[in-house]
Amino acid sequence: MLLCYRLIASFLLSICFQLLPTATADLPPTVWINGSQPLTGTLSPDGLVESYLGIPYAAPPLGPLRFSRPIPFTGSYANFSATEFGPSCPAALSGGTLAAFDDIAGIGKYLPPHMRDALHDARAQMTPMDENCLSLNVFCPAAKNPSPLKPLLPVMVWIHGGAFQFGGSSMYPGDPFVRDGIALNLPVIIVTFNYRLGALGFLGGSAVLKDQQSANAGLHDQRLALEWVSKHIEAFGGDPSRIVIFGESAGAQSVYMHTVSHHIQEQKPLFSAAIMQSGSIIPTGYVDDKGPEQLFWRLAENTGCDVTDGFAALECLRYNATLDAIIDFQRNLVRNEQSGIITAYLGWSPRSDRDQSGLLPAPVHELSMTPRAIPQITGNQQDEGTLFALVLNATTGKETEELFQSMFGRASTQQIHQALTLYPDNPFSGAPFDTGLRNAVTPQYKRLAAVLTDIIFQAGRRLALARVPVAAVPTYVYQSTALHNIIPVLGTFHANDLIWQWREDEDPSLRWPGRPGQGILKVPSKAAVAAATQAKVYRRYFIAFATHHDPNIGSGLPMWPRFSDLGRDMLGVGPSMVYVDRDTFRTEQIGFFAQNYAGFMM
Ligand SMILES: *[C@@H]1O[C@H](CO)[C@@H](O)[C@H](O)[C@H]1NC(C)=O
Ligand SMILES: *[C@@H]1O[C@H](CO)[C@@H](O)[C@H](O)[C@H]1NC(C)=O
Ligand SMILES: *[C@@H]1O[C@H](CO)[C@@H](O)[C@H](O)[C@H]1NC(C)=O
Ligand SMILES: *[C@@H]1O[C@H](CO)[C@@H](O)[C@H](O)[C@H]1NC(C)=O
Repeated sequence: MLLCYRLIASFLLSICFQLLPTATADLPPTVWINGSQPLTGTLSPDGLVESYLGIPYAAPPLGPLRFSRPIPFTGSYANFSATEFGPSCPAALSGGTLAAFDDIAGIGKYLPPHMRDALHDARAQMTPMDENCLSLNVFCPAAKNPSPLKPLLPVMVWIHGGAFQFGGSSMYPGDPFVRDGIALNLPVIIVTFNYRLGALGFLGGSAVLKDQQSANAGLHDQRLALEWVSKHIEAFGGDPSRIVIFGESAGAQSVYMHTVSHHIQEQKPLFSAAIMQSGSIIPTGYVDDKGPEQLFWRLAENTGCDVTDGFAALECLRYNATLDAIIDFQRNLVRNEQSGIITAYLGWSPRSDRDQSGLLPAPVHELSMTPRAIPQITGNQQDEGTLFALVLNATTGKETEELFQSMFGRASTQQIHQALTLYPDNPFSGAPFDTGLRNAVTPQYKRLAAVLTDIIFQAGRRLALARVPVAAVPTYVYQSTALHNIIPVLGTFHANDLIWQWREDEDPSLRWPGRPGQGILKVPSKAAVAAATQAKVYRRYFIAFATHHDPNIGSGLPMWPRFSDLGRDMLGVGPSMVYVDRDTFRTEQIGFFAQNYAGFMM
């Protein structure tokens, strides 16, 4: 009888919400996977958030599975202790893209201390790397914060960014989101996961293309994680029919790829809405393009796999090359080569493998012709390109032209010249935008930053947006100028939104309770106001959107008008307030890249 009572009690705890009070404070929160496998997590000290960490969703991607598409986890979750983040996937540098740019280009020197601290915190939170890294994490409102009106909760699945080669899910603890959801009375469940990065996840080249099971392994990891969530989230109290996928940078590009991969026959859709922060269509072509082919052979040469036959080289990379040798090669690229940090122009990135039954049968910009028409939010930081321009090495107009020729090998001479004309050699029109002559740290810096902003970020977003039937599909657009004239040289730089979204809370009493390694940020009050505004934009609007497919319902924030082809209204995100703006800037320049997109693929 006692045992029976215990089982019932822990079953009640197992769902993320419950209606009956129970006196089971000492039992760890438990969910029952597949109805029979009890998996235990952790309750936050204040009793608000349950977290289940490090849950394996795939078989270890080792041995024959290195570079290969993942296969589902086949073990049992019974008595699995989901109390620690799993290892991060191997990367050249620890701590995500911003930490990498700090290492290589010293961006920290431009940032105020509280932002620098956030960067260092993110790095400290990244768990050690291991090739066996395919796990996911679930954060949900705890049992004693019930939402009686909504039996199953909306789910937000985060795909982390990092140029497809940096970062890990442990940098993004879901607690602040869950707390904001509770505070808004819009409770949500957050899921984060790891996927393979760099060469292990996105090795290209003709040998990889021939062995189709080895192309875009990291993207297939993401897909498998989404399948796991769809299948099992109900055990956590989540609603599998209300899943929003969201991500930033490479994570947003990934989100976009999943929205155009709908040719895969799904019994039920894996998600029903999407949020893309600084990423949409990715300007890449095919797995066997020149860039990834060269990278494949350079990797082989540097890992003792310099054999003439591509198949043998791939087998050697799979079975003989040490993880250290692979990661050392990636690290050398990042540290020692111009554009190494963007890996020889997006070298480790998803590309079409021409597999009609796979995720990318054609380049993304072609797949974008028939997007899945689902509610979406898409937006950018005003000066996305500044970080990337900092590491490029062109100081004269002629060097810029040469750089463009090597970056955009498909573009005709005429297209290159048109681009150079549209982005004149004049700091007034460069990025950080609207800063006159200021911030021109080198003569071509602002020009390069402007071009990279538009080709990697804005052109893809505008092109994708033009292909969404926005009259029928709730679509919301934003653009942040939050750091305009505040941060020198970088302006409103790529990925600054992550700092507010994941690392700062508006109410200091809510900050990062409990977990080791999570520092409490000491923010001066003006910056605190700014941080609160930013956190609200990237959390509260998004939570409302996840719940209602409308960021306005329940968010308690100023009206964010829906995007339309005619009005082109978007949310402007300022340092301490939001406003209504229009998505009409740089029409000619961005339009040129959008119209000539195939020519400027990397
Ligand atoms: C869950 O149960 C189904 C059928 O009952 C089984 O096919 C599947 O392998 C199980 N999954 C796990 C992860 O145990
Ligand atoms: C899980 O733990 C319970 C209680 O300790 C035990 O009875 C059960 O056999 C365990 N199950 C597995 C699969 O280890
Ligand atoms: C890889 O290792 C196997 C077994 O140790 C060996 O036979 C083979 O020659 C190695 N391949 C290369 C390219 O070194
Ligand atoms: C930058 O360019 C100069 C002149 O072309 C060259 O000497 C230098 O090695 C380059 N630096 C890097 C990091 O590529």
